[in-house]
Amino acid sequence: MNTIAVLTSGGDAPGMNAAIRAVVRSAIEKGMRVMGVRRGFNGLMHGDIFEMTLRSVSNIIERGGTILYTARCPEFRTEEGVQKALNTCKYLGIDGLVVIGGDGSFRGARELSEHGLPTVGVPGTIDNDIACCDRTIGYDTAMNTIVEMVDRLRDTSESHDRCSVIEVMGRHAGYLALNGGIAVGATSVLIPEFEYDFERDVIDRMKRTRRTGKKNFIIVAAEGIKDEIEPMAAVIEEATGVETRYTNLGHVQRGGSPTACDRVLGSKMGYWAVELLSQDIGNRVVAQKDGKIVDFDIFEALSMEKHIEEREYKVAYDISI
Ligand code: F6P
Repeated sequence: MNTIAVLTSGGDAPGMNAAIRAVVRSAIEKGMRVMGVRRGFNGLMHGDIFEMTLRSVSNIIERGGTILYTARCPEFRTEEGVQKALNTCKYLGIDGLVVIGGDGSFRGARELSEHGLPTVGVPGTIDNDIACCDRTIGYDTAMNTIVEMVDRLRDTSESHDRCSVIEVMGRHAGYLALNGGIAVGATSVLIPEFEYDFERDVIDRMKRTRRTGKKNFIIVAAEGIKDEIEPMAAVIEEATGVETRYTNLGHVQRGGSPTACDRVLGSKMGYWAVELLSQDIGNRVVAQKDGKIVDFDIFEALSMEKHIEEREYKVAYDISI
């Protein structure tokens, strides 16, 4: 393999730059040329591509976001879009590709592999919802951001004897809400994976803990739960008499300098993706499983399921009384 390309796709995640850096440096070290593709599959379809050097990735390991920019790309889901991308690769002599992103991006990677372009996926999403992977790039940083932000909200909630309802990201997955909630000692955690009863799991818990002297409350909810989160604040205030404020942490969760864990994870997974391509192995997803860097067939990776165990969910409830 002489020339490989790298792109980032879907929502950005802190640590993606560490992965890009590892791809570029390790490929050049192996004697390959590396092309950077801007704005994910869009750039691949429209030829927004440049050659990267050892110095293109200097001083980026500590930066959040992605220096290659990112996009969600509906056009690439069509056969015509895939053909456009393949034509670009043929024209530029690109014979392997690293896709850093979430499972939507891996579907694109699988398409390209099936059309004969060896492609390797590297899991990067703050949601941690890639089934084959214990931890995705960006999750640890987002968790730490949530903890820092909620600790601040706790200060002001405590000063005013208030309740704080906090919405965190996770359209389909509750990892950030559950583990963020455990880390900040939330009274209730609401996630899409488990049925909850608002009256029992929020209102009654607040009343019960108030009887034991608790005066301020943190409720953490994932954006993907069945109910709207903002109106909960008024319902809680009405039912408990505790003044309640709503905060959506929003996109601050996706930014910021990556933690040491995400830098190391991004570096190792980016490095491993190039190891595979250098042996002409494509159609794989790199993952960290039981502490080790491994890889899976993309089709197999996409068909895997990851569940939050009920006993993990119970931890949040049983120790926040
Ligand atoms: O990156 C995944 C994610 O963070 C989801 O949790 C969230 O719903 C979504 O991205 C938000 O994406 P956008 O930036 O397109 O609003």
